[in-house]
Amino acid sequence: MPPKSASPFWPDHPVPPEAFAGREKEIQRLLERGIVPAMHEHPGAVFIEAEYGLGKTSLAQYVQTAARTRYGVPGLYVSLGTAETPDELGRRILRALEEASSVDQEGFGARIADLLKDLLPDRIQLTFFGVSVDWHRLTSQDFAAVRDVQGMGGVLRRLLGLKTKNGQRSWPAMLLVLDEINGIAKMLWFAQWLKGFIDFVAIHRIPVFLVVCGTPQRRTELIHAYSSVGQVFDVLPLSPLDASQTRTVYARALASADMTGDAEAIDLMVTWSAGYPRIVQIIGDAAYWRDKDGHVSREDVRLALDDAVMEVGRRFVDHQIVDALHSKAYRGILAAMAGEAWQRGRLWGSPFYLRDLRAMMPDMPDYTVRRFISRLRALGAVVPDLEEGRGAFRFSHPMIEAYLSLMGQSLVTPPTVARRG
Ligand SMILES: Nc1ncnc2c1ncn2[C@@H]1O[C@H](COP(=O)(O)OP(=O)(O)O)[C@@H](O)[C@H]1O
Ligand SMILES: [Mg+2]
Repeated sequence: MPPKSASPFWPDHPVPPEAFAGREKEIQRLLERGIVPAMHEHPGAVFIEAEYGLGKTSLAQYVQTAARTRYGVPGLYVSLGTAETPDELGRRILRALEEASSVDQEGFGARIADLLKDLLPDRIQLTFFGVSVDWHRLTSQDFAAVRDVQGMGGVLRRLLGLKTKNGQRSWPAMLLVLDEINGIAKMLWFAQWLKGFIDFVAIHRIPVFLVVCGTPQRRTELIHAYSSVGQVFDVLPLSPLDASQTRTVYARALASADMTGDAEAIDLMVTWSAGYPRIVQIIGDAAYWRDKDGHVSREDVRLALDDAVMEVGRRFVDHQIVDALHSKAYRGILAAMAGEAWQRGRLWGSPFYLRDLRAMMPDMPDYTVRRFISRLRALGAVVPDLEEGRGAFRFSHPMIEAYLSLMGQSLVTPPTVARRG
């Protein structure tokens, strides 16, 4: 076994297409009901809606690759990150163009480089890899070309070769991805921009398919800001991966690192991760580093689970919540909940009930159970489920649920099993 160098897991990044698993239906829908119609001059827009860590970016990027290889449709991926103003939107789009100019320098990249040369004649330098923009010299005027709807429409027309009336299209269509709309979603101007953009490409039949990625909360904010934006999107919600998709992630990653795993060990990872893509990757990565002989055993996975609990707690969960769970009684409750969730195959985000907690732990004083709930409520980890009525609760965020559930499971797992080999 050579020394470990690069993990085949992607706990911190969108998964690259070769390690991507599952989501077949979603991919098919995006290609057949988004890309293909756009190629026939029926532009459209989809909102990929899911909580953080469920795989929105990975899916959008996978579809970008698939559109390119299967249909010859190039894409532009724009991360809006912390953008809040129209200028910043313009800047992010220009950045995405700059980046894309270095890919595929014969075809689409070269077209983008030409476009940037025209848009920003004395603000760019030609480099070995496409063009590079002098960011510090850009002024608000420089963003104008992409910041407003007409400008952006014109840019897309040029990229596609539609600038002249009888211009031959150079590419059958284009995919435009707007990711990470967090900062911008509640801005009225952005909601209007989106609606205006989608209307503009529809009226002018510009062959573009728009994909926007965000959480349910962001979509609500958008609609709240400007209600008619709700009508122009199809919504594509993402759920956790199912067990067989999750198994594929592990099998593919291990094989790509020339490793193997006990079926039982892989089953444990599948169960513990509950198919939540970020947790799938965090557990896999921890198991990769725990393993010493190229064969992931049950014991490797058990140790990896403890690492994963630490990792998730440290990175994604408020330390007050982590601290609150030092109490032995609270850990007992979590272990019972995890065991129950296992048995019932309870879905992420589904409610749990005070009466069930009590029934699970008949020996635990009632006030301990109640205090557990109110402590987690005070910390914002648990919220009452109003639809289900009194005594029903749910976790405020899947990452918190994942953490609490991992923690619970690490407590119920039988200790050390003899190591293979
Ligand atoms: N289909 C998939 N197969 C394997 N891993 C995935 C898949 N989708 C997402 N992941 C992994 O899950 C994590 C979250 O993915 P990401 O695309 O960044 O989610 P989001 O954009 O919704 O926050 C990353 O670590 C990524 O590598
Ligand atoms: Mg993302």
